Amino acid sequence: KLPHVSLCVSCPDFEAAAKLVLPHKSYVYASGSANTALSLRGNLDDWSRITFRPRVMRNVGHVDTKRSIFGHSSQYPFYISPMGTLGAIHPGAELEMVKGAVRKGTHMVVSTASTKSSEQIMTTCLSELEKMGGRSPTQLFYQYYMPVDRKKALNLMHVVKKAGYKGLWITVDTPVLGKRTADRILQAEEALAVGLSDDDSAETTAEWETGDENTFAPSMGGRPVSGQLSPHTTWEDLLWIRKEWPGPIVLKGIQCAEDAKLAMEHGCDGILLSNHGGRQLHSAPSSLMTLLEIRTYCPEVLGKIEVFLDGGLRDGNDVLKALCLGATAVGVGRPFLYALGAYGVKGVERCVDVLLDELVTGMRLLGITSLDQCRPEMVNASRLLND
Ligand code: FNR
Repeated sequence: KLPHVSLCVSCPDFEAAAKLVLPHKSYVYASGSANTALSLRGNLDDWSRITFRPRVMRNVGHVDTKRSIFGHSSQYPFYISPMGTLGAIHPGAELEMVKGAVRKGTHMVVSTASTKSSEQIMTTCLSELEKMGGRSPTQLFYQYYMPVDRKKALNLMHVVKKAGYKGLWITVDTPVLGKRTADRILQAEEALAVGLSDDDSAETTAEWETGDENTFAPSMGGRPVSGQLSPHTTWEDLLWIRKEWPGPIVLKGIQCAEDAKLAMEHGCDGILLSNHGGRQLHSAPSSLMTLLEIRTYCPEVLGKIEVFLDGGLRDGNDVLKALCLGATAVGVGRPFLYALGAYGVKGVERCVDVLLDELVTGMRLLGITSLDQCRPEMVNASRLLND
């Protein structure tokens, strides 16, 4: 039986609840990762390997958690990460997610591979904002795969711009789809059940699976995915997009210091350190490792452009650690997806509350009253660096 939403007091509770109610296939889609899950585990574990260096007796009676993303302020230094095919998670799909975002005032990044159109999602956002009577600062940003066909690419940019999205989050860690182990097992099981051979199974991908974030075509063998993703994309393409898109551009999926620098030099307004929630490259660095690398090899990036990260954040204190080390804001993925799957819009709202409550308590116990006071010396990363 599904526990009452108020019994979800930490992020892992949402996953446990979702596991009870989601169809097996949907849970596999949400929880899945690449290969033997090394990247996924690294994302989760690395946050526990750095500790705080708290200060005491600092009058922490009043705490301010405000942060801005490209000038758009909200009460939260975290936003909802782009995740494709939310229709497999909840019948209201992205519309339900965006309602939760607006009701709590969090920003959200909408996936190219959404079940609902970018215009529908924006319309729902605007009507929900109206209901809130201007009390919600929520803004939507758009996650964009570097397109193969430039005409289509341009068209999509116009649609997204006209709809009112405030920035492009260009995902660059997916020239081909990673090896999604659990998906493959599921496909093989389905094929066996209907008496098909393993080879045939690649052709039987169900409709919603083909709408998966990147799985626009059967995903066997790291083949490029037709239509959306291109293994041929280079930094030249980014220069082209830079000319065509006037608003903020964030490169999503930066995984080393050299690329962080290149992104800055190619005119990006921000970078998002991410390994796609451990769903792409096997043994990819956690975003925390990448942030530490940037601090060592090109710290100037942190002052010049906005630096986001995502992956494995499951507690408001993980958010706080990232901000101490210089992140502008962070993305949270699966916890919101599980919350949506189990409780719909109420779950999304609850998940925001859980993270905020942990963040506020964490700030007080760390001895700060505003996120501007976050400093690298407030965390000890030596265990992670010296291993
Ligand atoms: C994703 N992610 C993703 N990223 C992206 O750029 N486009 C997409 O369509 C999707 N789709 C997607 C679906 C699902 C089910 C998951 C779990 C993830 C990656 C996502 O934006 C983000 O990088 C990670 O989810 C962050 O890690 P956590 O918070 O889930 O650990």
